[in-house]
Amino acid sequence: MQRFWKYIFKNWKKYLWVILALIAVDGLQLLLPLVFGFFIDAVGRRAPETYFYGLYFLGLAILITVLRYAYRWQMGKLALIFDRNLRGDFFGEILKLPLDFLQREDIGDIMARATNDMQAVRQFLIMGLIGFTDVVVLGISTVILMVSLNWKLFLTTVGPISVIAILALFFSRYVFGLFKVVQDVFGKLTEKAQEFISGIRVLRAFAKESRVLEIFQQVNQEYYRTNMRLVKLEGIFEPSMGFLVTISVVLAFYFGSNFVLKGELSLGLLVAFVNYINTLSWPMMALGFTTTTFQRSRASLKRIEEIIYAEKEKNYEEPLCDPGREFQSLEVRNLSFSLEDRALLDRVSFRLERGQILGIVGPVGAGKSTLFRLILRLTEPEKGSVFLNGMDIRNIPLSELRHFFALVPQDNYLFSATLLENIRYSRPQATLKEVEEAIWLSCLDEDLEQFPEGLNTMVGERGVTLSGGQKQRVAIARALISRRPVLLLDDALSSVDTVTEEKLVNNLREHSKEKGKSVIAISHRVSTLLWADMVLVLWEGKVKELGSPQELLEKDGYFAHLYHAQMLEGRTYGTGIRA
Ligand SMILES: Nc1ncnc2c1ncn2[C@@H]1O[C@H](COP(=O)(O)OP(=O)(O)OP(=O)(O)O)[C@@H](O)[C@H]1O
Ligand SMILES: [Mg+2]
Repeated sequence: MQRFWKYIFKNWKKYLWVILALIAVDGLQLLLPLVFGFFIDAVGRRAPETYFYGLYFLGLAILITVLRYAYRWQMGKLALIFDRNLRGDFFGEILKLPLDFLQREDIGDIMARATNDMQAVRQFLIMGLIGFTDVVVLGISTVILMVSLNWKLFLTTVGPISVIAILALFFSRYVFGLFKVVQDVFGKLTEKAQEFISGIRVLRAFAKESRVLEIFQQVNQEYYRTNMRLVKLEGIFEPSMGFLVTISVVLAFYFGSNFVLKGELSLGLLVAFVNYINTLSWPMMALGFTTTTFQRSRASLKRIEEIIYAEKEKNYEEPLCDPGREFQSLEVRNLSFSLEDRALLDRVSFRLERGQILGIVGPVGAGKSTLFRLILRLTEPEKGSVFLNGMDIRNIPLSELRHFFALVPQDNYLFSATLLENIRYSRPQATLKEVEEAIWLSCLDEDLEQFPEGLNTMVGERGVTLSGGQKQRVAIARALISRRPVLLLDDALSSVDTVTEEKLVNNLREHSKEKGKSVIAISHRVSTLLWADMVLVLWEGKVKELGSPQELLEKDGYFAHLYHAQMLEGRTYGTGIRA
């Protein structure tokens, strides 16, 4: 609840203002039945001031309207401010979560926290504040007024009206439970729709539309059924509340008229009393509702805070080290890594100097991408296993560490923006000339001519969808433009044809030699790796071979076998070495 109070406390003066306005409205509202009662008695006495009562009434009504408008407006504003702050903080904290956490958690669930739960908290803020003030101020003062008008009459009518509070409590509890079920089913529904629409290509290709529609209709029907229960329940609630109020009124008529006949109560005050029964029904209901909304929003707030206070990516460990700006070396020393008792990497060691090119090859699942994740600390490596410029990377602040590397991930991702924006993502201030150079280096220039608006073509969800090879090269251009000293290519040329590949590899080699950049390139193709200074063969998490391509080719190992196999397939177009 800490955050909740922090936001409220920041604006406490405005909240106080709203509460005072609420109290004022309640007070004025309590005057209305009395004025009405006095009016009736004045008519009975044929008193001349009767006409003024209309004016009193009008005056009160105007005041109430103005005040109500003012507090609703202010309350709405406060709720929105609260919402904005909480949502901003929430998103900020999501950005700091470790990747492992985000992979483990269901993204749909995190989105639900950002929408449904946040809405629940905001609703409580409005309804809770209004409801609570009304229960305390309106409820208690109405009871006091009714008792002071005639306590005997109050005792006879109080029964049915207090049942309202109990009913409202049970009703809102039940509705809340049902509401949660409805929301869960709705979550399922949107999740299914999203999944099927994103996977529509696979669906179509396998002609599975009717099966998918069937699954969707099942959930759709379930949503209808649960929602219908809610509709029925809500339908019965209000009329029965009204009925209970009527019973109280009937009792008041019956006993009240006796008191009037006996002269213990004037007719006008009986009318006022009956009006108070109506007034009291609202705080009675609010009593039930606010307790439930409170519980509900507390549960929601807890879900939001679970993310806000979840353990974040650890920035660095003491002692803090400054690796400087220049890249000198990257050393991996006996790096082991296991997940759930499965060793993904086992005592991997190698050293990369400034300007060197390291190729990594190995079968699928050998741990190549895992190695990149550890170097970038996307997953935390053991202490004393990865060193940048001679310093343990765990002692280097994350943003500084990551500024040394430009990663082209295996499953590269383009944002729904223009090509230019996508390329500039890693360094938005890059000049157009630099962008053009990066495009040339990554062999995108010819493709560019095909796009309707060149660099300003929208890609991703709302624009042209790029081919696999084009996407990869946009990602390479993005990495090149970042000016970071170490380029990490994770199978970044897998979807590029062999002719383009040769060109690209040459470009990258020249570019890195010229700028003194270092490269680590993971690939399944020998042709991509022949230009490296060093090749590392990773096999089931272990270093199987390490040496220059020539050395490895002379050995009768994995690399040599792979080379010959790929040569036979005619895949290798000799980058440096010809058969
Ligand atoms: N988040 C994860 N949770 C559990 N296991 C994982 C996770 N990420 C990777 N693995 C496992 O780790 C092993 C190594 O995966 P990794 O992605 O490093 O392989 P790779 O060498 O890059 O393979 P590929 O050539 O197919 O890209 C695999 O067996 C994979 O199942
Ligand atoms: Mg991989």
